[in-house]
Amino acid sequence: MEIKKVAVIGAGTMGSGIAYLCAWKGFEVKVCEVNEGLLKKGLARIREYIVSGVSRGKMSPKDAETVMNKVKGTTDLAEAAKDVDLVIEAVFEDINIKKTLFTQLDTRCPPHAILASNTSALSITEMASATKRPEKIIGLHFFNPAYTMKLVEVVMGEKTSEETRQTAERFLKTLEKETVVVKDSAGFIVNRIVLPMLNEAACLVYEGKTTVENVDKAITLGMNFPAGPFRLADFVGLDVALAVLKRLNEAFGDKFKPCPLLIEKVNAGHLGLKTRKGFYEY
Ligand SMILES: NC(=O)c1ccc[n+]([C@@H]2O[C@H](COP(=O)([O-])OP(=O)(O)OC[C@H]3O[C@@H](n4cnc5c(N)ncnc54)[C@H](O)[C@@H]3O)[C@@H](O)[C@H]2O)c1
Repeated sequence: MEIKKVAVIGAGTMGSGIAYLCAWKGFEVKVCEVNEGLLKKGLARIREYIVSGVSRGKMSPKDAETVMNKVKGTTDLAEAAKDVDLVIEAVFEDINIKKTLFTQLDTRCPPHAILASNTSALSITEMASATKRPEKIIGLHFFNPAYTMKLVEVVMGEKTSEETRQTAERFLKTLEKETVVVKDSAGFIVNRIVLPMLNEAACLVYEGKTTVENVDKAITLGMNFPAGPFRLADFVGLDVALAVLKRLNEAFGDKFKPCPLLIEKVNAGHLGLKTRKGFYEY
């Protein structure tokens, strides 16, 4: 099967980036949000990416118009699901929300459609269990920003078929992404390795041993990482980081227990860049 039409569910940080990327690479994209206000916000963000693409020489003003015309917004899931070949969901990192959505998508999408999740750490197998097409459910874990970051983790649920993986990988190749395939397991590859580092960094600061700035300086200058763990956490979103850690904690035990400092930040609504305050202020 060849992917031509894509639906992206959720037009927040990741959904809008993925939708832009797909339209830029030539796919017809439907974007679905829960209400008109959030849809408008998501579409405005996609427009900003296109404008920025033009100013960075990635596309001509004429191409920009073509790209924007490929994106259609809706708040009606049935409308988004109709006629699609691939759905990529990027809604909140909550297994119950995602399972409900997968059940709804399963009844509304054509039988041939592949349903993918951009989850950071949740179980693809569990999402697949909410549908009657588990062989067509797959994890496509894009990184932020989706249009720049090279990697996509391809996550195989227990029943994901080889055909689904091959179709998904062909699609990702068209998006000019590099892939790694991993079996379904909490945090996949990247988050299982990176989140403990962020948690340990938060513990160091929580214990009063050093500062946020010192940790980031140490890791960037001492390890040559492009960003320190706190800068990265603010960029990802502290709510997303905490959700992933909770999932790792559930799956692998106490070594992933979230640091109280991270929990305090999330409870205070200081979620990082998206709320202009996290470990840093913006
Ligand atoms: N932020 C990151 O760096 C990052 C990176 C990779 C993967 N992810 C994953 O991507 C997903 C989305 O993360 P985000 O950071 O974009 O979150 P976000 O909060 O920025 O956006 C989520 C959007 O989904 C919408 N939504 C919720 N339920 C919906 C539904 N039923 N139908 C349509 N829209 C719905 C919300 O209104 C919101 O706009 C999560 O699973 C997250 O773990 C995030």
